[in-house]
Amino acid sequence: MSNSDAKAAAVESAEKTFTLRDNTSGQTYELPILKGSEGPTAVDVRNLYGKSGVFLYDPGYTSTASCSSGITFIDGENGILRHRGYAIEDLAEHSDYLDVCYLLLHGELPSPEEKTEFDYHITHHSMLHEQLIYFYRGFRRDAHPMAIMVGVVGALSAFYHDSTDIADPQQRMVASHRLIAKMATIGSYAYKYSKGLPFIYPSNKLSYAENLLKMMFAVPSDDFEVNPVLAKAMDRILILHADHEQNASTSTVRLAGSSGANPFACVAAGIASLWGPAHGGANEAVLKMLGEISTKERVPDFIKRAKDPDDDYRLMGFGHRVYKNYDPRAKVMRNTCHEVLNELGIHDPRLELAMELERIALEDDYFIERKLYPNVDFYSGIILKAMGFPTNMFTAIFAIARTVGWIAHWKEMLSEGTLQIGRPRQLYTGERQRQFATVDIREHKQSRGWSWLWGNSKQD
Ligand code: CMC
Repeated sequence: MSNSDAKAAAVESAEKTFTLRDNTSGQTYELPILKGSEGPTAVDVRNLYGKSGVFLYDPGYTSTASCSSGITFIDGENGILRHRGYAIEDLAEHSDYLDVCYLLLHGELPSPEEKTEFDYHITHHSMLHEQLIYFYRGFRRDAHPMAIMVGVVGALSAFYHDSTDIADPQQRMVASHRLIAKMATIGSYAYKYSKGLPFIYPSNKLSYAENLLKMMFAVPSDDFEVNPVLAKAMDRILILHADHEQNASTSTVRLAGSSGANPFACVAAGIASLWGPAHGGANEAVLKMLGEISTKERVPDFIKRAKDPDDDYRLMGFGHRVYKNYDPRAKVMRNTCHEVLNELGIHDPRLELAMELERIALEDDYFIERKLYPNVDFYSGIILKAMGFPTNMFTAIFAIARTVGWIAHWKEMLSEGTLQIGRPRQLYTGERQRQFATVDIREHKQSRGWSWLWGNSKQD
């Protein structure tokens, strides 16, 4: 079995079950326990409702595995992130973004021949249909790039009909290549459009990261040399954001895909989900926060606000649903940040501010007790800013990088051959059945106070 089509090897543990007891009826239920290859086990509750008539209540999925997957492993307690078994630190250090894309999609690192072929496919899919370019003109010049990306990526399904048949593995693969390849072009065009600058076509001679920098920052009237240190940093940023198992946007893509929707529509849904400040929008929020704090002396005030239970304020770039330790991506990002600032000779006071914030927070009981550490977004904003990216492009860069993760999960879900629509249930807390009243009676009710229309419970 090739890894690409390998369903995560979740096996039922023969010797152990999980017993659930309903104290109202005295009934007990023996539930199978599923074991993955690593990490916590899961109780298989798929038949629980059928047997017991009760649902499980877990709105934020804090204790719920929504699927099994063989792509990415996270051990949040120990700060471990691996793709297909390879440590993120090794991938960031020794591979390039398209290597990681291939790995996520196919389950193995590519051989030299496979790498050449894969790079060729991605490179040769990076241009956009010319007519698609007119889409941009429909947006206001000050549109957020993520708004443009949601629209343009969704529109891809109207242009590439020959890769929307999700039942055909070949079409799925072509759609995967197209999405990965075109995303950098779509994102950088969103930026160019906002500036009123001409779009820069991708170049087949450049790597993915180099191309992205060129499409972002080159102008037709001037030569453009890609700085190798910045290209390496860009490549690392892409690698570090490539996948992160069942995060909100990936789960959105899976849920959208579970209805049989085409991959372009699913990825557009993923971009929309990523946009929120609790997810991909956090790197943008970190920079805004550092700007607000502005001096080291003000750091304690902001920490105090973040700790105040009566204040909604949070330190952006801190905390993670899964990591209860230093985010391994943040460590790599921190080093890359120093490399980029050194290369560019930039002395960014925000970096000093960030390090001071990190130092104080890591020594503070509030953050220690809640295991709140810097996450990947804490440093990425400073690097991207130094490289010349405007703040509103930060989340767009995340979306470009994460596209392969979304696609790998979508492809994995479809290749399992047992596609089942995702359809959560709910705990209903609304009105019980009540009598319908026509609008004329409703007016009477309000003007004359006919409270009997609400039913007995609300009668005086
Ligand atoms: N600053 C201050 N307090 C925090 C923070 C923070 N950044 N994050 C969590 N807490 C507190 C929270 O108030 C709560 O305290 P208490 O127990 O007293 O009520 C406790 O820590 C647990 O928080 P939670 O909201 O239940 O945790 P969560 O797992 O639902 O939230 C999170 C995870 C990432 C949404 C949250 O930590 C957060 O909002 N962080 C800031 C935004 C951010 O940096 N997001 C990027 C995440 S990494 C990129 C990605 O994967 O998308």
